[in-house]
Amino acid sequence: MASNTMIEVKSLSASFDDRQVLKNVSFTINEREIAVILGGSGSGKSTIFRHMLRLYDVPYNTIRIFDKDIADLNESEQLVFFMKLGVFYQNGALLNSLTVGENVALALEQHTSLPPDIIENIVRTKLELVNLGDAYQLFPSQLSGGMLKRAALARAIIMDPPLLFCDEPGAGLDPVSLASLDQLILNLRNLLGITVVMVTHEVSSILRIADKIIFLDDGVITFKGTPQDALKSDIPVVKDFFSKGTGATLPTDH
Ligand SMILES: Nc1ncnc2c1ncn2[C@@H]1O[C@H](COP(=O)(O)OP(=O)(O)O)[C@@H](O)[C@H]1O
Ligand SMILES: [Mg+2]
Repeated sequence: MASNTMIEVKSLSASFDDRQVLKNVSFTINEREIAVILGGSGSGKSTIFRHMLRLYDVPYNTIRIFDKDIADLNESEQLVFFMKLGVFYQNGALLNSLTVGENVALALEQHTSLPPDIIENIVRTKLELVNLGDAYQLFPSQLSGGMLKRAALARAIIMDPPLLFCDEPGAGLDPVSLASLDQLILNLRNLLGITVVMVTHEVSSILRIADKIIFLDDGVITFKGTPQDALKSDIPVVKDFFSKGTGATLPTDH
């Protein structure tokens, strides 16, 4: 494992009942990379995610994260592992009875013994980072769809995780809100050096933010590379996918 490797997945296979849904999947994701896992519905994207999050039993020697075999963590290592992961839940998963500030503060209250004024400072800083500086006292029901996603992002990064997982973060957003969410994720990487693993179907999003694309087709990786290489690919499923995004231009300087 190279020193700047954040995630290494090696020959990961998975079956449900008798059906194999992941077949010898291997890839690496480096520190500070924004990696996008792509593929049609049912191709196995979420199954890979759930393995990396240890929601399923992980076979030994298949997934290394933070330079450790995640199948082989003792109890205290597991706690550290989960503290270092940010997870962005699709629906925001905010509690409606709490203000945005209280929602974002939850993990700090549970996992640290910081005094309330320090927690408030950290929460306000994170909310400003996602352009929600004015939303501290608001309730989730008072936020737009785009604001809810950004609040969920603030919550996901409250413990300063080096690694952020997002399963379809932009689902249901209009193009302008989606572009601003993408910009925030790019900022997090650029400012905080966070590594991001994301599942998305939005071609415009992928072209804006991905450093690396991992393309799954029926449980098999058919393509790994940059968005630029994906656009030039002759692999039929990859070509089909990106032909939906014709007219999009590639960013050059992120
Ligand atoms: N817990 C499960 N039990 C049985 N089959 C599952 C389970 N999770 C996923 N599958 C099946 O595995 C395949 C891959 O699913 P998934 O990883 O959710 O795909 P994607 O996220 O790419 O849409 C699908 O055929 C799905 O029906
Ligand atoms: Mg899925």
